[in-house]
Amino acid sequence: MTAPTEAHKAFPRTIAIDGPAASGKTTVGSLLAEELGYLCVDTGIMYRAVTWQALAEGIDLEDEESVTKLAEQIDIDILPRSVEDGRPFDVLINGLDRTWEIRSPEVNQNVSLVSSYPGVREAMTRQQRKIAERGKIVMLGRDIGTVVLPQADLKIYLDASVEVRAKRRYAEEIARGNSVCLNDVIESLKRRDAYDSTRKVAPLRAAPDAIVINTDTLTVPEVIAKIKEILQQCDP
Ligand code: CDP
Repeated sequence: MTAPTEAHKAFPRTIAIDGPAASGKTTVGSLLAEELGYLCVDTGIMYRAVTWQALAEGIDLEDEESVTKLAEQIDIDILPRSVEDGRPFDVLINGLDRTWEIRSPEVNQNVSLVSSYPGVREAMTRQQRKIAERGKIVMLGRDIGTVVLPQADLKIYLDASVEVRAKRRYAEEIARGNSVCLNDVIESLKRRDAYDSTRKVAPLRAAPDAIVINTDTLTVPEVIAKIKEILQQCDP
């Protein structure tokens, strides 16, 4: 693979990567951003952070008003990783490292409900647009190309079958020393996908001008190579 030229770095300045759970957005997005010298912002982290904090504070997650209030006040920071334990970034919630807590099964189970609340989305979208204003950004999520950054210079939609995604997520969990069952992972992804794609506000879907990449049979370097090919075609 060749290193990106200055021209590639200059354009596009905002890259939106959307897709369902475990489609490889975080791995691909963070490596791509590193190669381009861009900032990678994984917006899923923000919804996970609100969910984790609400659970930690004992807030009833069905209580939309309280969860929304929390989303408006929470301080979420994403910093370069301080520990080499497989994490792509450090995630701080109200100043404390919560990188792994936000990946717990309890958060997985509840994050789709929390992210379906319009007020929560408004608060997160506001922060995401502010971060993106600086440019040179790879932003990952479900609604980046459709809602958060409809003017993004390049929109990618990463897809893969639920079986392939579940196997990847299962391998990640096992590598982290967590004991999980593949069938439970499949069911959890299906439930989250169904919820995310049918919600009223900002549902998961590819923007009409997004380039869809099915990653079922592609390795991470192959996906990155494909995106870089697309980037070359974006050259002025
Ligand atoms: O890493 P994984 O693909 O499992 O999920 P994630 O990207 O961390 O996102 C977790 C959840 O946050 C999703 O299932 C969505 O419910 C929600 N989310 C969202 O609604 N909008 C985004 N832009 C990003 C995530």
